[in-house]
Amino acid sequence: MKVGARHTRTIWLGVDQRSVEIIDQRWLPHEFRIATLRSVDDVAIAIQDMWVRGAPLIGVTAAYGMAIAMSVDASDEHLESTWIKLHQTRPTAINLKWALDEMRRTLLPLPHAQRQVAAYTRAAELADEDVELNRSMGRHGLALIREIAARKKPDERVNILTHCNAGWLATVDYGTATAPIYAAHEVGIPVHVYVDETRPRNQGAQLTAWEMVNHGVPHTLIVDNAGGHLMQHGQVDMVIVGTDRTTANGDVCNKIGTYLKALAAHDNAIPFYVALPSPTIDWTVRDGIKEIPIEDRSSDEVTYVQGRNIDGGITKVRISPDGTSAANPAFDVTPARLITGLITERGVAVASPEGLLKLFPERK
Ligand code: MRU
Repeated sequence: MKVGARHTRTIWLGVDQRSVEIIDQRWLPHEFRIATLRSVDDVAIAIQDMWVRGAPLIGVTAAYGMAIAMSVDASDEHLESTWIKLHQTRPTAINLKWALDEMRRTLLPLPHAQRQVAAYTRAAELADEDVELNRSMGRHGLALIREIAARKKPDERVNILTHCNAGWLATVDYGTATAPIYAAHEVGIPVHVYVDETRPRNQGAQLTAWEMVNHGVPHTLIVDNAGGHLMQHGQVDMVIVGTDRTTANGDVCNKIGTYLKALAAHDNAIPFYVALPSPTIDWTVRDGIKEIPIEDRSSDEVTYVQGRNIDGGITKVRISPDGTSAANPAFDVTPARLITGLITERGVAVASPEGLLKLFPERK
């Protein structure tokens, strides 16, 4: 997508063809900084400390981490220790394990001498594949937005609420939840996005809003608690969110607060869609609430907020009293029964085992 006039992805190979460059998302929207990752440790820190984040981008970054590892030592032992080191960086997004498994599956059968080239090639393919998956989801989601637009007067906009950042910054390009929104905007459907701020890290306020500004998509930032009210007053036509892990039953794990939006949407008969590429489906898990590990992050993310001060610098300020402890579960699970449909690269699935298997029969 565009940053200023320039087309940019979230991750690319450095000029030395060995290191990896990323947009360091910790500084957005105030500063656009690029960071270079030269070692597996750099990659692990970038994922854990959320320089990069979003399930698909975490996966592709880890794949490049494995490629860097192979450029240092292509032994089986190093491959396995890298797999473990990167896998433990963030526990919830299944795309991380999926990408590491994909790298292992590609590399293990090869002689050591071929592993470095093969690893960089496969990581680049995973990046390109992510873009294509998102484009396809965009096309399927566009059809849903068209249906809603067709029921409105020509000058009325389609109001879409989204949570967290499931935009191009969370993927290699286009995004998952935002892919249909960008597609609709491109074909001239008047879309307007309600952007949930998404405490504690404010991915909506900082990242989704930044994307919308750069792409010229009309949007309004709201506090997390405003969505239910807007839904009760007919101001939301549909909800589209992303996911970090979706179970074989269609339960959806996503950024904390997603479940509350689904409840409010259900109570107000508003369609609630989840956009996901197939690598986000964990076919080994059925009951999302019982089985998906929920990442517990630092309480500092709750007790402090980061922003630009009046002098233009980026500062963290404490918002709660010293001595107050804070809990910070980073994700929640929305049960399949609250979900209108799962927008995948193969079409829109009913959120159920049968619905998913209809689109992915090879998983039977
Ligand atoms: O903690 P984050 O910022 O990595 O969480 C990201 C999300 O919850 C996204 O909605 C999810 O990864 C889907 S991204 C296309």
